[in-house]
Amino acid sequence: MKRRIGILTSGGDCPGLNATIRGVAKACFQQFGDDVEIVGISNGYYGLIHNLCKEMTPSDFSGILTQGGTILGTKRQPFKMMTVIGDDNVDKVKNMKETYKKQKLDCLLTLGGNGTHKTSQLLSAEGLNVIGLPKTIDNDIYGTDVTFGYQTAVDIATDAIDRLHTTAASHSRILVCEIMGNKAGWLTLSAGIAGGADIILIPEIPYDIDKVCDALMRRAASGKSFSILAVAEGAFDVTEAQMKKKERAKKRAEAGILTATSRIAAQVQASTGIDTRVCVPGHMLRGGSPNAYDRVLATQLGVHAAKLIAQEKYGTTVAVCGNKLTANKLKDIAGLTKFVDPKGTLVTTAKNLGVSFGDK
Ligand code: F6P
Repeated sequence: MKRRIGILTSGGDCPGLNATIRGVAKACFQQFGDDVEIVGISNGYYGLIHNLCKEMTPSDFSGILTQGGTILGTKRQPFKMMTVIGDDNVDKVKNMKETYKKQKLDCLLTLGGNGTHKTSQLLSAEGLNVIGLPKTIDNDIYGTDVTFGYQTAVDIATDAIDRLHTTAASHSRILVCEIMGNKAGWLTLSAGIAGGADIILIPEIPYDIDKVCDALMRRAASGKSFSILAVAEGAFDVTEAQMKKKERAKKRAEAGILTATSRIAAQVQASTGIDTRVCVPGHMLRGGSPNAYDRVLATQLGVHAAKLIAQEKYGTTVAVCGNKLTANKLKDIAGLTKFVDPKGTLVTTAKNLGVSFGDK
C-alpha cells in the first residue's frame, strides 16, 4: 500500500523542528521503503491554504538533525481567523481540504503548539487524517509532560541569567530578565531555578509589586549587593489579574509601558533606589541548534508519529506521559493549556529555597 504523507511546521519556530521532521521521515522510509512519499508543505497552514507543496526525497532529510529553525518554513495563522473569510475572499478551510485532495495525501503531520493543534482538530473534524507533534519552547501543550524545543530554551535562558549574575554583581544592580511565555511560566520557572534567580514572576502567580520590592530590600539588608528577577513576558500583577487580557493591554498602552518587565524595573528602581536594568533575550530563546536532550526527544516523537501512521491512528497528537511515548486524541487536548501549578513541586522547591514569587 502506497502512502503519501504531508508535513508542515506551524506557529513560532523552535530548536528541534528539523530533528523531528528527520525522525518522522527516516522512520517512514525504514518501515514503508519505496511505498512512501513525503510532501513538504511550506510555511505552515499558509502553504496548505495556498498549495505550496513539494515532494521531498531522503536526501532532503539528511544533515538536519542539529539544524535550528525549520527547513519547511513556518508562519502564524491564527486559529480564530481560520473559519473567517477575509478581504482576500479565501475560504481557508475549503482550500486546505482541496490541497490535501489535490496532493493525494493519506495523512497530514502538523508540528506545532496550541494554536496549531486547534486547527489540526478542526481539519480532523472535517475528515482529514491528521497527526500532531508537540512543539513549543513554552512547554504548555496539554496532555504531554514535555514538548520539543523547551529544554534547549531552558538552557539558553539559564545561560542568560548566569551572565546577568556577573554583571549585576559587578555593578551592584538589580537585573530583570524577561523570558518568553505569554500564558504559561514553565520556561521562566525552570530557567529561574537553574540560574538561581532571586525572584521569579510567572502568569500563574499574579505578583504584588510591594512584596517583590520587600523581598529585594530584605536581600539588600542581608548584605547581597545585587538581585536577579526572572520574569515571564506574560506576568501580571494582582490588580491586572482582575482584568481581561484586552483591558490589561489597553491600560499598559495608556501608561506608555507595554511589557510587564519594563514596568517592574521602573517600579523596583523607584521603590528600592537600586540601579535596575532590563534584559530581553527574546527570540534568542528560539534560535540555534537543539541541545542533546531535544535531539533525542524530537527523534523519539518523530519515530513515534511514523508508528501512528502505520497503525492509522489519526486525529491524534504524539505525547510523552510518565516517560512513555503515547498519543492523545486531538479532540481531548485542543484548546487546553498546561499551566504551572502554583502549588506544584517546582514552585514549592523554589519557595523552599527562599525565592519570592511576589505573592507573599
Ligand atoms: O512560541 C511561543 C512563543 O515563544 C511565546 O512564548 C512568545 O510570546 C511568542 O512565541 C512570540 O513569538 P513571535 O514573536 O514569533 O510571534
